[in-house]
Amino acid sequence: MNILAPSILAADFAVMGEQIRTVDNAGAQYIHIDVMDGIFVPSISYGMPVIKSLRKVTDSVFDVHLMIEKPERYIGAFADCGADSITFHIEATDKADGILEEIHGRGLKAGISIKPDTPVEVLRPYLDRLDMILVMTVEPGFGGQAYLDFCTDKVKEARKLADMSGRHIDVQVDGGITLQNVETVLKAGANVIVTGSAVFGGDAAANTKAFLGKMNSNRQCFVEICGK
Ligand code: DX5
Ligand code: ZN
Repeated sequence: MNILAPSILAADFAVMGEQIRTVDNAGAQYIHIDVMDGIFVPSISYGMPVIKSLRKVTDSVFDVHLMIEKPERYIGAFADCGADSITFHIEATDKADGILEEIHGRGLKAGISIKPDTPVEVLRPYLDRLDMILVMTVEPGFGGQAYLDFCTDKVKEARKLADMSGRHIDVQVDGGITLQNVETVLKAGANVIVTGSAVFGGDAAANTKAFLGKMNSNRQCFVEICGK
């Protein structure tokens, strides 16, 4: 199933609740929440108290993307404040096994993210447990950057690994996704689409519907060609 996950990093923080309701009502299935610590990435965004407040305005799936050093320190805290799914960076920790166990122990979905220069292969040892692979398609840290074309091949590789596992593993893309390139990443095998500025940079409801339109027609294509 194709899923749209608007990133609220590009929303107007003064009216965050309203903006979330807008994309929610327009049909977005997830809300993507980028947590940055100023160490793993240069920027600082928001953390647990903000997520806890936002949890009151929607039942939507909170897809929390941790761009923080040593994420093992905060898994419990993000679970407590309302995350449904937690994705951490493999480059930020040497405790991936324990983190996956803790996330699953809290009944949440677990994802691992790789930066553009990290090979997809590093994820192989986790395929028996992972729920989602996040292929970063820009250097993490800021919204509004341009999609890195060489990452399309990484999305294909990630899809291959996910399928090889024999389990259901989502392939998420994040960074520089627009209405112009979303079909490219869908065709490469991504099924969870993160997009920030291309949704909140204009009419968020209209943009959400436009993305969902493209994502559904792509799925139909797939059904016609593959018969499944
Ligand atoms: C970047 C974040 C992204 C970002 C995407 O480090 O992980 O989720 O908000 O924003 P756009 O779609 O504007 O590239
Ligand atoms: Zn993100």
